[in-house]
Amino acid sequence: MTEIPQLEKDAIVSYVKNKTESDFAPANVYPAHGIDHIRRVVYNSTAICTGEGTDPFLPTVAAWLHDNGRIAEWQAKLAGRKDRIFHAEVSAAEVPFTLSPYQDILGEEAIANVQQAVALHSMPNSVDDSPLTVTLKDADRLDGMGAIGIMRTFTDRHSFPSYNLPNPYGSVVRPLREINESNTTLMEFPFLNIEWYFMLRSETAKRIAERKLEHTYQYLRMFGEELGVDQAYLDNHPMVQKLRSAAPHIFES
Ligand SMILES: [Fe+2]
Ligand SMILES: [Fe+2]
Repeated sequence: MTEIPQLEKDAIVSYVKNKTESDFAPANVYPAHGIDHIRRVVYNSTAICTGEGTDPFLPTVAAWLHDNGRIAEWQAKLAGRKDRIFHAEVSAAEVPFTLSPYQDILGEEAIANVQQAVALHSMPNSVDDSPLTVTLKDADRLDGMGAIGIMRTFTDRHSFPSYNLPNPYGSVVRPLREINESNTTLMEFPFLNIEWYFMLRSETAKRIAERKLEHTYQYLRMFGEELGVDQAYLDNHPMVQKLRSAAPHIFES
């Protein structure tokens, strides 16, 4: 890709930011997947690029555009339509059109790279993921972790049973996407957030995540303490044990 002058990069970032903010303005989308989530993913992308010493330009563009398909998904849900809309596909399909005013500056390759990262952002990791896709996936996953991850859980899953006693943490590690109202509690979601730690690939994202997980663990520990349950339930949870052996320093504070 030919080097794009910084002034042009700033103009493109400002354009995609305004486009996404105005698209979301009238849309009453999911509380955990709206414009605030997108702003945080942009922030995470910048933090990752700063830590990795890479150019934040295309990751920022991709982060602004990655979840625009949530609007169509939410509107279908509100209208009671049963059609299955996969938001990443819708977001990716919009990318070339959205970036078309800047096609001459960006070039086809950069636009295709952004489109691919957006299309793949919620898919499992692949060894074929481009550096841009890795950054977007890491930035998006970081927003599901730590205090914000817990906040998103409570806003998004408020109709779920909160927890079950005597063991409020559950004892089974369920695969992602098997959360439902009949087989889980709110407290199990932080453990899936811990699982996301193992999917991060940049060293900077892992470092950010480890700080978040220190607090997640302390939150879960305090939750049990306030309920008067034995801390062994938490410390014997397979996901906590997996995290403890991968990153023991998380548990040192
Ligand atoms: Fe997404
Ligand atoms: Fe997202």
